Amino acid sequence: MTVRYGVPGISARPTWFPAPAVARTAPLGATKKPLPLIIDSDPGLDDALAIGLACARPELDLLAVTTVGGNADVRHCTENALRLLHRYGRDDVPVAEGAAGAILGEVIRAPEIHGVSGIGNTVLDPSPNAARAEGAVELIASILRSHPEKVAIAPVGPLTNIALLIRLHPELVDRIAHLSIMGGSIGEGNKTVSAEFNIYADPEAADVVFRSGIQITMMGLDVTHQALLDGAAVERLRKTDTASGGVAADLVDFALARERAWYDAPAAAIHDAVAVAHLAIGDLVSVAEYHVEVDVTHGPARGRTVCEGYPRRLARSGQVVNAQVGIHLDPKRFEDVLVDAYARLP
Ligand code: RIB
Ligand code: CA
Repeated sequence: MTVRYGVPGISARPTWFPAPAVARTAPLGATKKPLPLIIDSDPGLDDALAIGLACARPELDLLAVTTVGGNADVRHCTENALRLLHRYGRDDVPVAEGAAGAILGEVIRAPEIHGVSGIGNTVLDPSPNAARAEGAVELIASILRSHPEKVAIAPVGPLTNIALLIRLHPELVDRIAHLSIMGGSIGEGNKTVSAEFNIYADPEAADVVFRSGIQITMMGLDVTHQALLDGAAVERLRKTDTASGGVAADLVDFALARERAWYDAPAAAIHDAVAVAHLAIGDLVSVAEYHVEVDVTHGPARGRTVCEGYPRRLARSGQVVNAQVGIHLDPKRFEDVLVDAYARLP
């Protein structure tokens, strides 16, 4: 008896439309011409690895790390960003603090996943730097205003800062080369059945961003759940024999402990690193085209990224594609990319 789609003896077409892979629109950094990049984050275990990856890859020119409340209180996220950059040997990269929480609605946190501090039980040496006084939005704005090239932004936390940037500095929107966002999901969520954490944390901000017209790649759970590291990967990180590799190993170990306890699962998804890796490696992530709309109602679907990729419905509704969405990556290659990055860091 053939069992397909989970029902013995019945083969039904899937309910989701598998939009085909298309050529990427996201810019791609190159060692000879590194891509100017700002990471907006809520460090955060996987944020920490995304920042490390950006520091290590020669294809990327990390200009700043800004913080937003999400996984932890924003003051923890800011201190973590400063200390992580210090650990990675990048005290040259400025940090600025942004919104403590959503513009509307409840402020949500994820201490059960990332620990109250945001980086598990890891204690990093203090940074010699302090966060910039102007704050996240104004630091991003000043970089967009002054940089000779358009600048890519990788938002890997709630999108509050990015929405505020769009509303406070609409004249700078065209200086943003691309938004490589970790957030959302074509399928189900993780914070709720409908919504992924970053979007659920501030759906109104996400709605502003997805309606902005800025070129977007959305790395949702569909692809980030393929970006898995397991115990063997942790050992590979430790065997890089770098202090940064040891920190990354500890952070992933903390995430693995929860995965094992909650789901009896052997691996943890390093969501945020996918959004950064896509800007440095051209063929790691496959993407497809969707119209993405954020549900900002206050019902059970709040924070859902409604992803329409079916051409006939798009044509019928008049909706236009406003994002590329990650659909596939090779997990082994992803692991190699992270281990290689941490072997390069101090
Ligand atoms: O849903 C995963 C996202 O939420 C990641 O950015 C993780 O850091 C958390 O912020
Ligand atoms: Ca994050």
